[in-house]
Amino acid sequence: MTDSAHEAERAASDAARSVRPGGDPAAHAVDPDVGPEAAPDWADADGGTVAGRVVLVAGATSAAGLAVTAELVKAGAGVIAVGSNAERLRELRLAVPAAVTFQCDLADFAAVTTLAAVVHAEHGPIDGLIHLVGGWRGGGGLAGQSDADWDMLHRNIVTTLRNTTRAFNDDLLASPAGRLAIVSSVSVDRPAPGGANYATAKAAAETWTRAVGQGFAKAGGTAAAAIFVVRALEGLEAELATRVTGLWEQPAASVNNVRVPLTSA
Ligand SMILES: NC(=O)c1ccc[n+]([C@@H]2O[C@H](COP(=O)([O-])OP(=O)(O)OC[C@H]3O[C@@H](n4cnc5c(N)ncnc54)[C@H](OP(=O)(O)O)[C@@H]3O)[C@@H](O)[C@H]2O)c1
Repeated sequence: MTDSAHEAERAASDAARSVRPGGDPAAHAVDPDVGPEAAPDWADADGGTVAGRVVLVAGATSAAGLAVTAELVKAGAGVIAVGSNAERLRELRLAVPAAVTFQCDLADFAAVTTLAAVVHAEHGPIDGLIHLVGGWRGGGGLAGQSDADWDMLHRNIVTTLRNTTRAFNDDLLASPAGRLAIVSSVSVDRPAPGGANYATAKAAAETWTRAVGQGFAKAGGTAAAAIFVVRALEGLEAELATRVTGLWEQPAASVNNVRVPLTSA
């Protein structure tokens, strides 16, 4: 490796430890004790499956995130699991030791661009982005749709999706089988006053995802963006995990911009 390549690698690594200029490095640093010392030896990509592909799970520490991460690892993918809470990431590493974890506030675009630089330096471009950051606030009819709840829902559901797709779109376009997936809600089709904030944020996330998918289609059609739809995720974690790994077993055109209801939807 040349000196300049070393410089670039060191710059990316240093950047990972202070991901938001002027911010609190401890609060925003990519988790310093995560993952193996060297990049894991992930298998070569195998056409038609997720084996050997590099997949980033954004919001990986929930029950659904854990199920998706474990299933991707089982299927032979290299998994980069991202969350904002160090303790939950440690628990994920105990459950799925093969996953590489990064602590990052995905609502902070500067932090996400730094994450992308570190991921590229250590693991190369990604082939999949599974976006699972969510949350729910609501109730109290239309009068109960507070600004605070809207801010939280917009931040978690929309901003983290915008940030991660903007940072990794080029990777997905360049991959021979780029895949983006989100999990949306039946409330987009049947919104109620008490869940108006939530349904509106989810509708925005679906629209953003379809815009990304339209870009994939225009670029030649090897990448796809899928929208899974559920009423409630509890009990559907295993199905979601199977559907996510299955995205690589279908041609891009057959899954791109398709809304896929999971069983109870
Ligand atoms: N749960 C349901 O019944 C249901 C229903 C319909 C749709 N969905 C959707 O399905 C997806 C998965 O649902 P879920 O209930 O598993 O999601 P979730 O628990 O709300 O979020 C998934 C993970 O995102 C992480 N996260 C939150 N903010 C973050 C940030 N700023 N940066 C990085 N990571 C962050 C959380 O971990 P840390 O706190 O450790 O960071 C959490 O483990 C979501 O999109 C959700 O909206 C869920």
